Amino acid sequence: MGLPTQVVTNADLAERIDTSDEWIRSRTGIAERRIVDARETTASLAITAARQALQRADADPRQVDLIIVATATPDYPLASTACLVQDAIGAVNAGAFDLGAGCSGFVYALVMGHRSIASGESELVLVIGADTLSRMVDWDDRATCVLFGDGAGAVLLRATEGSAGIHGTLLGSDGSGSQMLYVPAGGSARPASAETVANKEHALRMDGRQVYRFATQTMADACERVAERAGLPVDEIHHFVPHQANQRIIAQAAKRLQVDESRFVCNLERYGNTSAASVPIALCEAAEEGRFRPGDHIILVGFGAGLTWAAALLQWGETELARPVPWWHSLGRKALYGWARVRSRSRRTRRSIAQWLWRLLVPLTGLRD
Ligand code: ACO
Repeated sequence: MGLPTQVVTNADLAERIDTSDEWIRSRTGIAERRIVDARETTASLAITAARQALQRADADPRQVDLIIVATATPDYPLASTACLVQDAIGAVNAGAFDLGAGCSGFVYALVMGHRSIASGESELVLVIGADTLSRMVDWDDRATCVLFGDGAGAVLLRATEGSAGIHGTLLGSDGSGSQMLYVPAGGSARPASAETVANKEHALRMDGRQVYRFATQTMADACERVAERAGLPVDEIHHFVPHQANQRIIAQAAKRLQVDESRFVCNLERYGNTSAASVPIALCEAAEEGRFRPGDHIILVGFGAGLTWAAALLQWGETELARPVPWWHSLGRKALYGWARVRSRSRRTRRSIAQWLWRLLVPLTGLRD
């Protein structure tokens, strides 16, 4: 996981805008959230999460075949965040791309990674959910700014023998609801201008009540359908790891599925809605707490902007988390990250020198591109 250190409580927000701890807690279940500082970005959180996943799995970044970063808040509109992660971890043999499916993004990315492995195209896939929605909310809009937090979570997918792994997947979308939750400007429909900035059109806009209705219907449906695809009744699911948007949405889903709410992994009280990062952060925390046992069936379920929804049913395997990682492996990985930094700088310097030489030589030789 990659979590900013800065904690913003409901009381902190109540000092700045017209809200209260009581309102936020009772309507959402959120008590505090983590917010990036000036030096942190989506990529920096994603890199921290990626390095942790590689450490836990004791894996060599040079063996990673594919990196998928699910995000709605990339560092740049162009040049993917996945490529920044690839460069920073020295994954020199990996393809890398960003995936945009709002808060469902991580589950979408997990399904894509799983399919890449199942097709034989990849052996090791790094799947990351990372977002810094604090950079995209209007901090004067109390209806949205109290909901979100920043963070990143990562998992490493690897082909294995045996019954552990992903047994069912479900992806869904409904673009007719795209304006229920969107950022109006900054894309090709409405490029950035002084007017869009003045109108705060680069901030997230949401119809909270409509999204709430959509979420309560979708979450339970998606769980039921993915369980059906995997040939399992819902009451044989040991744990649900839902997108952490609102405790009331989770409670409604549990009620509709007729399962005890305690089977839902919830941490939104401490982190708020971290968008594409919420499912992997909840998954990683629950795994580290030893909540999952080998053989347990787990449903990961997300919903979000687009509109999109996604679910994956997996069976937990013998966990490698408890196995100690030899210190020389950890040291080797740290050395690789240092080498990745040097490699990146030297490649950039080489390109600058080559360009400089080219500019110098062209007038002398009369050559053109
Ligand atoms: N503090 C105090 N009062 C507030 C606040 C606030 N932060 N925000 C809104 N209010 C007020 C409203 O102005 C309204 O006042 P009014 O009745 O005088 O007009 C009142 O509280 C009730 O507002 P509602 O919007 O009806 O409140 P609701 O109970 O629906 O809760 C909420 C709002 C929490 C946003 C809820 O609708 C929700 O959770 N929706 C889903 C949001 C969500 O999940 N979004 C993420 C999707 S995932 C992704 O892709 C990013």
